[in-house]
Amino acid sequence: MEYVRNSDLKPACSDWPVHMQRAIDLAESVLTACPNPRVGCVLVRGGQVISEGWHSAAGAPHAEAMALEAAGPAAREAVAFVSLEPCAHHGKTGPCSEALIAAGVATVVIPMQDPHPAVSGKGIAQLAEAGVEVIMMVDFEDAARAINLGFLSRVERGRPRVRMKLAMSLDGRTALSNGDSKWITDVASRRDVQLLRASSSAVLTGIGTVLADDPSLTVRPEEMGLSADQRQYNALNLQNPPLRVVLDSALRTPAQSNLLAAAGRVLIYSAAAAPSAELAGLENCELKVAGNEARVQLHPVLESLASEYYCNDVLVEAGPTLCAAFLRSNLVDELIVYVAPKLMGSDGKALLDLHGIQTMADTPTFEVIETQQLERDVRLRLLPQVN
Ligand SMILES: NC(=O)c1ccc[n+]([C@@H]2O[C@H](COP(=O)([O-])OP(=O)(O)OC[C@H]3O[C@@H](n4cnc5c(N)ncnc54)[C@H](OP(=O)(O)O)[C@@H]3O)[C@@H](O)[C@H]2O)c1
Repeated sequence: MEYVRNSDLKPACSDWPVHMQRAIDLAESVLTACPNPRVGCVLVRGGQVISEGWHSAAGAPHAEAMALEAAGPAAREAVAFVSLEPCAHHGKTGPCSEALIAAGVATVVIPMQDPHPAVSGKGIAQLAEAGVEVIMMVDFEDAARAINLGFLSRVERGRPRVRMKLAMSLDGRTALSNGDSKWITDVASRRDVQLLRASSSAVLTGIGTVLADDPSLTVRPEEMGLSADQRQYNALNLQNPPLRVVLDSALRTPAQSNLLAAAGRVLIYSAAAAPSAELAGLENCELKVAGNEARVQLHPVLESLASEYYCNDVLVEAGPTLCAAFLRSNLVDELIVYVAPKLMGSDGKALLDLHGIQTMADTPTFEVIETQQLERDVRLRLLPQVN
């Protein structure tokens, strides 16, 4: 395999960065393909794009298969730009390395190796053994990793990527002193949260939120305002909505809650509490134990979500207690904060249950990676800074 930088590309290959970027954009157009990575593919012959493909969901054709199918015999001698190393194993579909070889593709250009043990390097090796030229465009590795952070987290760290959503007033409050919190943010922010849920493998909350708000935590496409973009709408994996997860040490979740009444699977992690007969009898509810202490332990929950449920991305939508616990445990990979331009007063409820920070050196600090105005609200995306 050859490694090339953009600056080293021969003049005949000067359009390669455009094709590689397009393959990455196609992958990104899908909200989630969990448990699989998001992958895009562009087939080019004689400098012309002859077909494109993307992997829309587990069980659906892989990006390479979709592009090869669309190209037909024109794929012979083509250059395939794929946003991840082609797979080499038999999963729900056949190996893409074999399909590329059989189609007579001359060159496969990738930005990164797939770290999944079933693939890692094997796809590259199979292609090379069959005489297909394999080229790694190293300058695209970061962009290619960025679209699969959840998948990479599960495969490389054994736990899902954790994104935490918080909504607050300008003075950092999440409810009035009487508990009223509907609604802090505008419709546009709530629509955005629906997209976040749809791009997650699991939506996780605490028993405090279940008891206070009785949320359903479902994905509701009709609230997403996506009608103008059918492509993205189709990319919603409605057959496989995110798992809804509650951390509930003493199994206090009411069997009649909206969470359990809504269609879809619910997973409740407890600290070995005995369930009520009603809860134990629910078909859509699975009860798990996480850790051996009086309270549910966060690390075992995340390990279980990765290893038993193949979750790539978990969205935490919880109250101040559980959100603070995730932050204290350094288990948050990204914060998404919706700030409403209103004041709820100092007797309102605080965003996070964090106490006892004594020095500025000890204040948890974040890097702002994006700010966006959504109607009247502002959405911040932040990464925790490691000291
Ligand atoms: N603004 C927002 O973005 C937003 C989002 C969601 C909720 N809320 C608000 O949050 C309020 C509820 O707050 P809350 O703090 O009571 O709810 P919470 O954070 O959702 O749930 C807290 C509960 O989670 C359980 N838990 C299980 N394992 C835990 C662990 N390892 N660490 C910490 N907690 C664990 C604990 O009860 P057990 O030990 O008994 O299991 C704990 O009391 C509601 O008023 C709701 O409106 C706001």
